[in-house]
Amino acid sequence: MLETQNIKAQSFASCLELWYNDNKRELPWRESIDPYSVWLSEIILQQTQVKQGWDYYLKIIKAFPTVSDLACVSVDDFYPYWAGLGYYSRARNLLKTAQIVSEKHNNFFPNTKSELLKLPGIGDYTASAIASICFDSKDVAMDGNLNRVFGRISEFGKDLKVQKHKSELKTIAESFAPKSNLGDFNQSLMDLGSSICTSSNPKCPICPVSVFCEARKADTQLSFPFKSKPIKKELLHLHYFIHDDDNIHIKKRTDGIWNNLFELPGFWLNNQNEVIYNNSNLNFDDLILTQPIWKTKHLLSHKIMHIHFHKLTTETNTTFEILNKNEIHTKAFPRPIEKFICDFIGD
Ligand code: ADE
Repeated sequence: MLETQNIKAQSFASCLELWYNDNKRELPWRESIDPYSVWLSEIILQQTQVKQGWDYYLKIIKAFPTVSDLACVSVDDFYPYWAGLGYYSRARNLLKTAQIVSEKHNNFFPNTKSELLKLPGIGDYTASAIASICFDSKDVAMDGNLNRVFGRISEFGKDLKVQKHKSELKTIAESFAPKSNLGDFNQSLMDLGSSICTSSNPKCPICPVSVFCEARKADTQLSFPFKSKPIKKELLHLHYFIHDDDNIHIKKRTDGIWNNLFELPGFWLNNQNEVIYNNSNLNFDDLILTQPIWKTKHLLSHKIMHIHFHKLTTETNTTFEILNKNEIHTKAFPRPIEKFICDFIGD
């Protein structure tokens, strides 16, 4: 089994290598494997397309040709070089890392993924990219392109928002990796993902690795990378009432998600304005007379609750326990009701 995967991996990697030799994009940061220029390009490209990042890269490398040049510049003096790229924390981390490399590492970038990961602004993808391109490490750098390519190759049907699933897909990608030259392997997949294995209209007939692709065989390319359907959340409107004095009327809930917690007098409406729960003699007509004194939104995994609190002038029925406002901490309330009582009435 392992042997078969090894043969498949070798064959996959050589098809890709042949294709890359002829189709490699000529990008300015690919002219050398100097860690400073590779690192700078990877940080610029973290949230930026190659086309947009290109000029920024050239402008910054020209003004600051070495890491020690970059380490000397202040944030204020550097911002004009970054203007338009957004995510300014990237620029601040860039300067912090330049200072650390310059002062602590004598202007040499660390040469392992684990050491690179200790630097500000360098996460798993960026550390793997730098280590593989500059130091020939064995790390696969999973960016959006690689997730899409291997998602399709293996018909990976799990949502990549979940960290565990991301790691599983990375293990699959590693099983296709060659024993050496991972820098080229990673960059060839970035190029394949941006020109052939694109999100929409993938060009499978000219893909060098289409024979390895399960999604291509099943004609399911566009279903990968897999995204689980967002859950349709139930929209609810909750109305609660509070008396205009120091006494708080409360009642214990005996069902549903707030079972055993205390509530104020009130009722719940669904999105069609039908009453689906009412713990008192109050109804929608009482509500029409009042403006809410406090509103909040409470999100649960399957529900969105718009909660309105009103002042009450009429009497509620007598099935409520009466609590003095000094005693509120003796009872357990659902979080948004507790917050209202504390913020509005004061604790
Ligand atoms: N995107 C991020 N890093 C890249 C690289 N080294 N080559 C092409 N695209 C990239």
